Amino acid sequence: MEALRIALLGGGTVGSAFYTLVLERLEDFRALGVEPRFLGVLVRDRTKPRPIPQELLHTEPFDLLEADLVVEALGGVEAPLRLLRPVLEAGIPVVTANKALLAEAWAELCPFAEEGLLYHEASVMAGTPALSLLETLRGSELLELHGILNGTTLYILQEMERGRTYGEALREAQRLGFAEADPTLDVEGIDAAHKLTLLARLLIDPAFPFQGVEARGITALTPEDLERAREKGERVRLLASLYGEGGRWRARVAPARLPEDHPLAQAKGNALWVRTAPLGEVFVTGPGAGGGATASGLLADLFRFLSGAPGHRPAPLAKGPLGEGRPFPEA
Ligand SMILES: NC(=O)c1ccc[n+]([C@@H]2O[C@H](COP(=O)([O-])OP(=O)(O)OC[C@H]3O[C@@H](n4cnc5c(N)ncnc54)[C@H](OP(=O)(O)O)[C@@H]3O)[C@@H](O)[C@H]2O)c1
Repeated sequence: MEALRIALLGGGTVGSAFYTLVLERLEDFRALGVEPRFLGVLVRDRTKPRPIPQELLHTEPFDLLEADLVVEALGGVEAPLRLLRPVLEAGIPVVTANKALLAEAWAELCPFAEEGLLYHEASVMAGTPALSLLETLRGSELLELHGILNGTTLYILQEMERGRTYGEALREAQRLGFAEADPTLDVEGIDAAHKLTLLARLLIDPAFPFQGVEARGITALTPEDLERAREKGERVRLLASLYGEGGRWRARVAPARLPEDHPLAQAKGNALWVRTAPLGEVFVTGPGAGGGATASGLLADLFRFLSGAPGHRPAPLAKGPLGEGRPFPEA
């Protein structure tokens, strides 16, 4: 049986879950004719408890060019970019869940994505299909897309609907481990803007800039805002939207008021609602974070690679909208 040599960058929430999932799924790998073998796992602190054997842990970069495939689960932009640059230049495929890296270092990464070397299903909605869903929707033209792409803000808004203030809901999210100690990326809408950028590049413009997304978060919302919406039969959600306006695409992350019977308003997890022609409306919902959920998306990419399919290529050309979208009103 052929060995599949995997270099894993990061052994935190996602990296550890991915390592565990690969070992649980050895039979599936063997059925595909390969035996996965971890060359090493890059971490900062070897003494932290994690389900990865000590002998695999490295605190200094090891020889990534020996790998058949590199899985990046570090986070951040500069450190992963420095490590992945020579890997991609050597033509070694990379699987990543790192939306910040992809959104912000695109000028450098785009040529490798166009070559099919970058697999990143888990970067948007974790293991719930988002990129592969949009790839299938390429058979139609996009009219508009609206998504709930950030789980932390969804949790906070759901708690505020139960009467908690923004601050109380945020503290509870942090206590439960849903929100980072520094929640800025989530609550200011930047994480959702990173993800919307990736979706826009896949569908409407291969060079869509991260700065092209207007982002407003949820920090100024009060329980009274949510109560007023509820009285009108609406729910407030942090919505990432891409739609035609005045003949151009508009990309916006903002709290929006949704009719409460809309699938997006009823979603318990991350969700994506897309209107296309001629196909029509499509909706998907599911977990958008968590170790297991994200590892599932990384593993799906690994299987995609083993099937011989290239990574997630951006749209082949930039296209204007077919018409005006019907955005939801801002809250
Ligand atoms: N967590 C989720 O639910 C989720 C969902 C979707 C996408 N993602 C993405 O997945 C990636 C990883 O997230 P995570 O939640 O697993 O983060 P995490 O728990 O903080 O893990 C990061 C890992 O990378 C290591 N690391 C970070 N910087 C390093 C450096 N400069 N040198 C060596 N090792 C370094 C850390 O080492 P130590 O363990 O020694 O500190 C840790 O093992 C991020 O890009 C995130 O956006 C996460």
